[in-house]
Amino acid sequence: MARASIPITEYFSQESPLATEYRRLLQNLRRMESPGELKSILVTSSVTGEGKSTISSLLAITAARKGRRTVLIDCDIRRPAIHRLFQLERYNGLVEVIGEGMGYKDVVKKTSLENLDVITAGKLIPQPSELFNTSSIDTLIRELKFYYDFLIIDSPPVIPVSDPMVLAQCVDGVILIVKAGETAREVALRSVEIMKNNQANILGVVLNNAKNRLPYYYDYSHYHYDYGPRGFADGRHGTGGRSAGSGPTGQSNPPEPAASSPGKKRTT
Ligand SMILES: Nc1ncnc2c1ncn2[C@@H]1O[C@H](COP(=O)(O)OP(=O)(O)O)[C@@H](O)[C@H]1O
Ligand SMILES: [Mg+2]
Repeated sequence: MARASIPITEYFSQESPLATEYRRLLQNLRRMESPGELKSILVTSSVTGEGKSTISSLLAITAARKGRRTVLIDCDIRRPAIHRLFQLERYNGLVEVIGEGMGYKDVVKKTSLENLDVITAGKLIPQPSELFNTSSIDTLIRELKFYYDFLIIDSPPVIPVSDPMVLAQCVDGVILIVKAGETAREVALRSVEIMKNNQANILGVVLNNAKNRLPYYYDYSHYHYDYGPRGFADGRHGTGGRSAGSGPTGQSNPPEPAASSPGKKRTT
């Protein structure tokens, strides 16, 4: 992201239309809770660059602002991004916990939000796949569930990497990000197939980049709510105008989560 020197918590305005979308996504997740709880959510997608890290960060911030004690965990140890988004030290994170036996309390990092903590990816290791096994991840998630209300897990993509499948088996539900205009239908379907084959509880799809690709559908002015800042958050970015904001090239803006959100309960 372009605003690398500012933590994402600072430029994600609660008053932006984008924040409304995230609150809606969170509400949809809550509505899906009965009968089982959805305390741990894996955010994944087919390939890199579809918005997993940004969307998981914004969802975690939204939950924390709503008063839920939240922890965001960077499980993409090949291409970690959460430490950058939050301006935190990458080291002393997930790798040190599940690879070296450090306690989560020794690595968890505070953010400017009282209810939001972060576990960054940790140090670089030569063979990341070896780190991921169901028992160590499961143990960590169980422990975190005891201390937090909500766990958001940012993960690597499903198609090139097998780690998300291990993670998917340890969480209550999985959100799949699809990037409008970029994720090929067959590729998204393949991801769903892989996850289903691994008994993942796919909660639904979040459509990223919808405003850019489906402008009429996503134009807030169409719904007479075009009063907020343009683009992402603070009014200084974005193009202004009715459906102002981000797009595939608008790197200074945040990802648009989608109007669509988890739609189905268990698809497995
Ligand atoms: N809808 C969007 N509009 C503008 N930029 C976006 C959008 N979605 C993602 N990006 C940007 O694309 C890049 C990749 O996003 P990221 O969240 O790191 O994806 P992933 O974790 O899936 O690899 C980042 O620079 C992010 O800011
Ligand atoms: Mg990422």
